Amino acid sequence: MRLENNQKKRRTKWWIALGAAVTIFAGASLGALSAYNWSPEEAIEGLFGISLQQSISQNNHEERTIDEDVKEITRAEELTEDSETAYPEEPERTPETMDEPTYVKGVLIANKQYPLPTDYAPGENPEARAAYDDMQEAASEAGFSLVAFSTYRSYDYQTDLYNRYVDEHGQEEADRFSARPGYSEHQTGLGFDIGAEDQEEHWASDSFKDTDEAKWLAENAHQYGFILRYPAGKEHITGYQYESWHFRYLGKDLATKVYNSGLTLEEYLGI
Ligand code: DAL
Ligand code: ZN
Repeated sequence: MRLENNQKKRRTKWWIALGAAVTIFAGASLGALSAYNWSPEEAIEGLFGISLQQSISQNNHEERTIDEDVKEITRAEELTEDSETAYPEEPERTPETMDEPTYVKGVLIANKQYPLPTDYAPGENPEARAAYDDMQEAASEAGFSLVAFSTYRSYDYQTDLYNRYVDEHGQEEADRFSARPGYSEHQTGLGFDIGAEDQEEHWASDSFKDTDEAKWLAENAHQYGFILRYPAGKEHITGYQYESWHFRYLGKDLATKVYNSGLTLEEYLGI
């Protein structure tokens, strides 16, 4: 009985000692933490060696970055699917506000971002016509009879043409293959729509790309100063669907450089 009592006493003392040790340790820790303006975040930071704020902002940043990536990817997909580089919603420039056409690195540019003045009416460019005549002759020697069925188009002509396409196809569709008035390369006098003689059914048609004349032009036009202006798969850059018949005169040197680069005119000029 006495032995049991002694054992109980020893056990009780041991628990008291343990309790006291825990209490002293906790008190000392709290004291130390309050001396350093303790906060739960700082305590955790201290324990794990990281900055919570940094960690939270890293997470936020990651979320923002992912959001931005998703937006960019979605936009790229939309552009690819829509095959359209849209006209700016709030354009800096319109045909009505333009005094002069835009030259980028010495190259006259007309696209959905760079309109021409409404009254810009240079007519067909004589240098481009001479180059086309040379090309037509070379094509003829190779056994192909080319026809430039649409070259210079005035602002008013483009207005009628575009409005007709909008009536027939709706504006969204028309914007993919026809320039609005003031935005057409044909108004510069440097755009040439080319087809094969007696094959009107392929003129300005997707089917032209499969003709021998289209293949000859795609391979040789640069030697005469022309580039295929709206190549396949570049709709999101040029703003227009593939037009195997629309060529732009740039002069032999530049046309050859653009052709060899494999880039569109927009990409080559960095616009
Ligand atoms: N078809 C071209 C894009 C134009 O209308 O100028
Ligand atoms: Zn054209």
